[in-house]
Amino acid sequence: MLNERGKIRTAVLVSGGGTNLQAILEARGEVIHHAEITLVVSNRKNAYALERAKAAGIPAIAISLKALGGREAFERELQRVLELHKIELIVLAGFLTILSPAFTRRWDHRILNIHPALIPSFCGKDYYGLHVHEAALARGVKVTGATVHFVNEIPDGGEILLQKAVEVLPGDTPEVLQRRVMEQAEWILLPKAVETVAADMLADPS
Ligand code: GAR
Repeated sequence: MLNERGKIRTAVLVSGGGTNLQAILEARGEVIHHAEITLVVSNRKNAYALERAKAAGIPAIAISLKALGGREAFERELQRVLELHKIELIVLAGFLTILSPAFTRRWDHRILNIHPALIPSFCGKDYYGLHVHEAALARGVKVTGATVHFVNEIPDGGEILLQKAVEVLPGDTPEVLQRRVMEQAEWILLPKAVETVAADMLADPS
């Protein structure tokens, strides 16, 4: 379902600070021309990302997995809200809940995720947020980075769309490394991937 300007209706799912959401919002009209961000959903009602969405005038909704009593009910509600807003593309931007195979199959090649490492390194179920950078530093890698990929039933296992390497520097803490990976890779890659996928969807709506 396209809106009147012929853009792909896109929802961004978040859990935390929302700097990747911010990067997407700021890329509208610069890098992003074929996607319209029409909804932001958080699984945590206190996520600062919701404030960023509201400041940009975008409908921002919190759906609590705990309050609904589990993943099945959470995904049912999420699906309802996505349909209500006629969403065609989902972007996971620091969304830290793993989606079920039933959900990812339903949205096959319609969910993007940003992961703060070079997949297949430091990825999978237990690798999220700062833990990813802690693991990279503990292993002593000299290069890390970020990956944007399609989401399938395997955590961080879907088709890779974009990757960018970032240097690890002597004395890095997880926080310092996280910030560098965001600045040099995540905030650049994610808007690019959104634009590429949205443009492809418009070119081939099948
Ligand atoms: C980002 O570094 C993102 O790559 C990561 O969480 C952070 C969210 O920051 N996502 C994962 O680890 C997913 N496995 P943000 O809320 O400021 O965008």
